[in-house]
Amino acid sequence: MKATAAVVRTPGGPFSIEELDVADPSAGEVIVDFVATGICHTDLSAAQVLPMAGPVVLGHEGAGIVAAVGSGVDDVAVGDRVVASFSACGNCTPCLSGRPAYCRDFISANVSAGRADGTHGFTDSSGNAVGSHFFGQSSFASRAVVRAGNLVPIPDTVPLEIAGVLGCSVQTGVGAIIQALRPSANSSVIITGTGAVGLSAVMGAVIAGCHPIVAVDTSPVRLRTARSLGATHTLDGAAPDVEEAARAVAPDGFDYALDTTGVAAVIRRTVSLLTTSGTCGLVGLADQEVSFGLGDLVVGRTVRGIIEGDVVPRTFIPRLTELWRRESLPFDTLLTSYPITEINAAVADLAAGRATKAVLTFP
Ligand SMILES: NC(=O)c1ccc[n+]([C@@H]2O[C@H](COP(=O)([O-])OP(=O)(O)OC[C@H]3O[C@@H](n4cnc5c(N)ncnc54)[C@H](O)[C@@H]3O)[C@@H](O)[C@H]2O)c1
Ligand SMILES: [Zn+2]
Ligand SMILES: [Zn+2]
Repeated sequence: MKATAAVVRTPGGPFSIEELDVADPSAGEVIVDFVATGICHTDLSAAQVLPMAGPVVLGHEGAGIVAAVGSGVDDVAVGDRVVASFSACGNCTPCLSGRPAYCRDFISANVSAGRADGTHGFTDSSGNAVGSHFFGQSSFASRAVVRAGNLVPIPDTVPLEIAGVLGCSVQTGVGAIIQALRPSANSSVIITGTGAVGLSAVMGAVIAGCHPIVAVDTSPVRLRTARSLGATHTLDGAAPDVEEAARAVAPDGFDYALDTTGVAAVIRRTVSLLTTSGTCGLVGLADQEVSFGLGDLVVGRTVRGIIEGDVVPRTFIPRLTELWRRESLPFDTLLTSYPITEINAAVADLAAGRATKAVLTFP
């Protein structure tokens, strides 16, 4: 079986479009014919550093149709419409406690380029192995070997073309608010960074009934989008008076904050804007370290990391599709579609702010 795939061969190198051979599914795996997949910032970070050795197919929020199933797979069948999310072992204490995003094997199961036994799901035209199984799926390919445990069946009512952003970015942003931070109605919230994850968090804050909802970014276009999705205030993160402007909105401090920039200075400032008992969730990774004044935390504040919205995809993604059907989660309005052959143009458009969330489609 052949696939058209976007391969990264060198750190920071461009994506090259190649025809690859796709392996047969092993036990517990399926073949998915992908229809669409978002580009998440995490794919771009991985492409910059290539934490796995050798060429690799990235992509970790694909949506498509099951084309074949390996042995031992009995919860999805050929023809099922599915969204692929992250991998978890299913057996460790966090997994068994309903918190697979904190699986003890999360890194090895997701930041991977093949099966645990060292075999790969793709072979290039020279007969060399190409890394697969990134987040258990490597969805920057028209067809791939995917871990069955990653898959979430979705209803016919949701087009696969838009569903290819649910498995990571929308789940992460909405889940960070309504599943991880769980603000009560009328809680004040500030969201820093309004890319796909931050804008999903804005929608999550609206669903949770937060007020006010402050969105901070350096992109006027994205801030306008945040406002259209329900942010009550938008602030230019580069303005010298951004901190004062935020304090003016919530003089006693914000009950909740979510940072999606991963920028240390933004995180430090955002934590200082919390109420004394406020909580700041962190999902972004740009800087490697951040420091806080001890006094900023000892007063009662909480800073916590959040992976993938702290959700169980098989129960949470159906909630997302139902919220979309009821027009409470218009994530489809964020999307710009590109054929997989235009992936480098999509990446350039994201960097330049011409697209907010790029979705790759397959012929
Ligand atoms: N924890 C998780 O499970 C998880 C899941 C998905 C993505 N992520 C990470 O979350 C982050 C956000 O992902 P995304 O796809 O939305 O990325 P994105 O690049 O689309 O969005 C980031 C936004 O932050 C803004 N920004 C950057 N620096 C800023 C500053 N100094 N002040 C204000 N705004 C600033 C950018 O303009 C951009 O709009 C990335 O680091 C990504 O790797 C984490
Ligand atoms: Zn686990
Ligand atoms: Zn992601």
